Order: sequence, then structure tokens, then C-alpha cells
Amino acid sequence: MKLLFLGDVMGRAGRRAITDNLPRLRQEWKLDFIVINGENATSGIGLSGAHAKTLLEAGADCITLGDHAFDQKDMLQFIEQEPRVIRPLNFSKAAPGKGARLFTAQNGRKVLVAQALGQVFMKRPFDDPFSAVEPVLKTHPLGGQAAAVIVDMHCEATSEKMAMGHFCDGRASLVVGTHTHVPTADAMVLPGGTAYLTDAGMCGDYNSVIGMEKAEPLRRFITGMPRERFIPAAGEATLAGVYVETDDRTGKAARIAMVRNGGLLEAAAP
Ligand SMILES: [Fe+2]
Ligand SMILES: [Fe+2]
Repeated sequence: MKLLFLGDVMGRAGRRAITDNLPRLRQEWKLDFIVINGENATSGIGLSGAHAKTLLEAGADCITLGDHAFDQKDMLQFIEQEPRVIRPLNFSKAAPGKGARLFTAQNGRKVLVAQALGQVFMKRPFDDPFSAVEPVLKTHPLGGQAAAVIVDMHCEATSEKMAMGHFCDGRASLVVGTHTHVPTADAMVLPGGTAYLTDAGMCGDYNSVIGMEKAEPLRRFITGMPRERFIPAAGEATLAGVYVETDDRTGKAARIAMVRNGGLLEAAAP
């Protein structure tokens, strides 16, 4: 299968890059299944139901969220009606929606997508992501009912993401990090056959501070004082993420390639 995972969509610039480019890339790259992290698609904070629909209509087969999962309050209801949106497994015991789900790709094959939140340097304490992911992988062995397994590890620390990659190695087709909004350059296939990238980066305007218009973040770093609200940067966005080809028999990764399309970042394509 040909899988595409795109990192955190940041505000209007990110949404526009998705709607303008994803339908074409889906054709060009013959993609079977697309996952988009949507946790910042609405004004940089959370995801509204309306914007979730925008991403789904542009070609997302699944949308993952993150620590900002329910910052747009209508997502509390929307996620119960729209099974293509999932939130982290370990967000909160009281959270609506699911943290993992088996999807059917357009070619009829099943794809499991799961998301977990890390614990290191995160603003809120979350439960252990490793014990959250374990039963999901056990229930859906790779190459069984699930032709592909994708794990979105949403956290700050590169070490924690890399540990999750090795934890899932041989049991997932792809483990990819999200949340930091900066792509890392370590796309690889781990020894057990799991494609891995520490962070997918964001789908947003990189002439910014992690997607926010840079004046206010700079002011806060320089003076230590807030003055205005953060606003998502509005210039041309780069679509950033990762492309993976899996072996149809085993579900393991045959190939991984970084994706950077449009905007300021140096281009990369499968
Ligand atoms: Fe996040
Ligand atoms: Fe994010």
C-alpha cells in the first residue's frame, strides 16, 4: 500500500495547502490511504467540525488530533458522529471518541490508525503511552486483518518518539511523530520493518515561529511579556510529512520518503 501521513495542519494557510494540493498528490502518487494531523487546523488551536470536513473532503481518510484535541468545543460532539477523526488513546478517560480505529482504504484493505500522547515536557500529565499502544497492537497484528498499522506519537521529546518507534518495530507499518511542527531528517525503516520519522513537521507557513505569526512569539522570548494573542502565520504553507510503501503480504515498510511540498521548505517527494 501507498500511505501518506501529513503533520499538524496549522490554521488557514495549512488548510489551503491541503485543499489546493492534496487531491492532485493523491492521484500523482497513487495514494491508498492518507492520514492528516488536524490538531491546529482551526486558528492554530484545535479542530472544528467544519474544518474537519474540509480536510476529509480534500482526501484525508483519517484525521488524528493531539493535546489540542478538544480546544474547539464542537469537536466534543463531532468526534462521536465522525469515526474518521480519532484523538489520543491516553488523552483522558472522560474524553469522547476513540484513540484507535480500523479503517477501510479505497482499495478495500484495512488500515489501523492509533494515536498516543507522550509524557516528557508536555503541559499536562498524560497516562503512559506505551501501555496505551500495547493492547491495540496486540489486538491488530500486522499482516493479519490490518494490512497496515500507523501510529501517530504526539509529543515534544525526540527520545520518547524514538522509543515508541522501537517499541512498535515489526508491529507497525509506520510510527511517526507530530506536535513539534518542525520536520526531522531521520526517515528510516527500522530493523524490524517499521517506517519511522521522529516528526512529520507541520502543514503551515514556515516563515513563523512553529506556525504562529512571528512578532508576538519573538516579543515574548525577548521581553518575557505577552502583549497580543498568537495568530497563525498566513503565508504559503509547506505540506510536510512522510510517504510509505508497505509490503502487501507482511504490512511492513518497503520504503519511506520525506514529503515537503510548496512554501519555504526545500522540496522533497517520493
Ligand atoms: Fe500538539
Ligand atoms: Fe500541533
